Order: sequence, then C-alpha cells, then structure tokens
Amino acid sequence: MKTILTGDRPTGKLHIGHYVGSLKNRVKMQNSGKYRTFIMIADQQALTDNARDPEKIRRSLLQVALDYLAVGLDPAKSTIFVQSQIPALSELTNYYLNLVTVSRLERNPTVKAEIQQKHFEKSIPAGFFIYPVSQTSDITAFKAELVPVGDDQEPMIEQAREIVRSFNSIYHKQILVEPRGVFPPKGFGRLPGLDGNAKMSKSLGNCIYLSDDADTLQRKVMSMYTDPNHIHVADPGKVEGNMVFKYLDVFDPDKEQVAMLKEQYQAGGLGDVKIKRYLNDVLEAELRPIRERRAEFAKDIPAVYDMLQKGSQKANEVANQTLTEVRAAIGVNYFD
Ligand code: TRP
Repeated sequence: MKTILTGDRPTGKLHIGHYVGSLKNRVKMQNSGKYRTFIMIADQQALTDNARDPEKIRRSLLQVALDYLAVGLDPAKSTIFVQSQIPALSELTNYYLNLVTVSRLERNPTVKAEIQQKHFEKSIPAGFFIYPVSQTSDITAFKAELVPVGDDQEPMIEQAREIVRSFNSIYHKQILVEPRGVFPPKGFGRLPGLDGNAKMSKSLGNCIYLSDDADTLQRKVMSMYTDPNHIHVADPGKVEGNMVFKYLDVFDPDKEQVAMLKEQYQAGGLGDVKIKRYLNDVLEAELRPIRERRAEFAKDIPAVYDMLQKGSQKANEVANQTLTEVRAAIGVNYFD
C-alpha cells in the first residue's frame, strides 16, 4: 500500500480553487482504499511568513480543519494532523539542512517568486527561506511515496528527492523514501479568480470559499468577469477568457449542455444574467452539501480539535520511528 502525504498552510479558509485543484482528488484517493493517507495542516510553514500574526494561523487552522471535514476527508480513513505538534519534523529539518547549500535554496523558483510577491527584498525570514527543507521533513517522516500538490510545489518535491538521495548515499542506509509529486491534470491545475485573474487567491479578493453561504455565492457569481464587449443580449459574446464558461468547463458535469450554451453565447442571444444564473445552480448543487456538512461539524468545535489531536498522536508515532532510524543512520544514537 502506497503512502500519501500532503497538506496546506492555514492562512485562511479554503476556496473552490483548492477544491478542484486538490481536495476533490484527495477525497477520491482516500476513498479508493488503496493508500495510506496523511493530511497535514502546515501551521509551522504558515508561521514562516506570518510570525507576527500567529492569531491568523490559529484561527485558520480550525477553518481548514472544518473545510477538510466538509469536503469529505475522513479521520477514519486519513490521518489528519497538525505540523507543529510533531517535534520530530523540526529535528529532521536540522539534519537535512546540512545536506543543502544556500545557493541551492536560492535557486528554488517558487520560493523566489514568493519572496518577490511578499516584498521581502533583503529581509527574508530565515525560516521562510529554508521551508523547502522543512517540507522535506514533512514528506520523509512518513516515508510518503506520493505527494499530491499543485504545480507550484514541483520544486519542493525535487528538493526533497535530492535530500533523500544525499541522505541515503552519505549514511549508507536506504532509510528515506524518494517521493514523487502527483500533479493535477492539465486544465485543472489552477482555477482563475472571479475577476479573471489567473489565480484565485485571498489576497486578490477574488475567491469563492467553501464556507460561503448561498447568497454570497450568488452575489459573487453575478459579479464574475465575462466578456466586457458583450453588452446587449443579442450581441455575440466571447467564450475565451470568460470566467463563467471557464467555471462551467470545470464544474458542470453536463459537457454537452456546456457546448450548446457556448455556441448560443457566441452566436448572440444568450445574456450574461441568464448564463450566470445557470452557473450559480451548477455551483450550488456542488457546494450545498459541503456547506451543510461544514455547518454540522462546526456545531462541535471541541470534537474537531479532538480529531486533530488524535491524528497528531498517530502521526507522532510514525514520525518518531523515522527519526529513530535517521539518528541511528547518522550515528547520534549514543545511548542505545
Ligand atoms: N507548501 C505547501 C503549500 O503551500 C504546503 C505543505 C507543507 C506541503 N508541507 C507539505 C504540501 C508537505 C505537501 C507536502 O501548499
């Protein structure tokens, strides 16, 4: 049975971009019964660029846990745990840091892009700079073979693979397992924002959250970016770059219907309000059950924390076992 590990930084609630880009697939993999699944809330990684706002991370941790449960991640089938509660991860990071050079870390394109976006310039938090190494600990502590992530995480997997190879070759032990990234199928990698921006993101304010109520969903759908030149219903409209059709492609299971609507829209005679109402129905059908389950779980918050604590206990056992092997391989097991 293959082991899967993946996770999210708790910096806010999860949105439908997370849902189509990864959560849905995780639930499918979990329910296939073919994998041993670990899902981690990466609060320590979130703190690497939010050290001064720990309250945000604390708050978001609960929101992410609720989002997980709402979409169908099931603690009876997956181990859901919290990164900061697994001390072995930090110790592994310390050993791995010696196997990586500063210049190698500087070349990580995702970290580079984040440094730009976050305007760190010369004041990059050291913990942030090395988070790919800490992510290697997350993955290897569980000997995960498969890591389902977004395309932007490819450099992290590559970094992890390099560290695993160095470790196993330097310490002459095949202890660590080289992971493989599992990436979303083409076209599903990244859901654009409501405004047409290539990325749905909290900071851009263009998200539909899994927790949005029906009215909020409808208001957001009605505000979506379509074709700015499609003014009168009778006008021919453009489908490319039109978010309503982009979302229909992703969410509407009835592909024939979508093809027909596209034709109609391009020919003229199909209004934006009408097509948005249709999309709203499609999204509502998918999101209502999630929203309802979320509200159910939110009625018992102590039970959610309890679930995370149990998951973290289980995760600790696995990570501690790997740490013991790692210490022995390096030879820092003096008193055994
Ligand atoms: N870096 C990932 C993200 O931003 C979150 C993460 C932390 C992760 N540790 C991980 C993902 C380990 C996969 C495996 O989404």
